[in-house]
Amino acid sequence: MQPDTRAARWAGDGPSGDPRALRQALGSFATGVTVVTTVAPDGRPVGLTASSFNSVSMDPPLILWSLSNHSPSLAAFCNGGHFAVNVLADGQIDLCQRFGRPVPDKFDGLATTTGAGGVPLLSGAAAQFECALEAVYPGGDHQILLGRVLRFRWSERTPLLFCRGRLGAALPVEPALAG
Ligand SMILES: Cc1cc2nc3c(=O)[nH]c(=O)nc-3n(C[C@H](O)[C@H](O)[C@H](O)COP(=O)(O)O)c2cc1C
Repeated sequence: MQPDTRAARWAGDGPSGDPRALRQALGSFATGVTVVTTVAPDGRPVGLTASSFNSVSMDPPLILWSLSNHSPSLAAFCNGGHFAVNVLADGQIDLCQRFGRPVPDKFDGLATTTGAGGVPLLSGAAAQFECALEAVYPGGDHQILLGRVLRFRWSERTPLLFCRGRLGAALPVEPALAG
């Protein structure tokens, strides 16, 4: 493999109090993209794009994601008993954008099915996790939601990735890891 001759110096550094620089540094950690969904007490479907999803525990099966304290969806997620994590596929950039904006009609015209607790499940995802809300922890300007996985499924679709503010898809550079 050729040595990487690009900038050998840090592109930026700063105190943790510089939110823009901190966001840029954190953006170097590539993630997938999810749309997390739930249902409001009045039956209205609720959802938003979230890249903060991660696995926590295998036994019991636990996952987490974090939700902004400013989100109008906060009450529905924190007071509801269930949510679903829809891991977006590389052909679902439109869903990433649709659910990443504060618009009231995010589900208009979308094909959904119903999961545990009545939450909407999006069609065409790379993977899906139906969860019972296990705990909510305060995390600064976000709430950390811990979910117990009740049901899950995955497909052969290529997952959408998010890194440094750009969407993309995985490009393997090594053979698959064992296990
Ligand atoms: C790629 C991407 C990842 C995001 N990740 C999160 C996240 O993990 N948590 C969060 O609260 N908002 C996240 N957002 C922002 C929300 O999707 C956005 O603020 C959306 O408007 C929230 O919906 P709401 O206004 O209906 O609450 C992300 C947006 C994008 C585009």
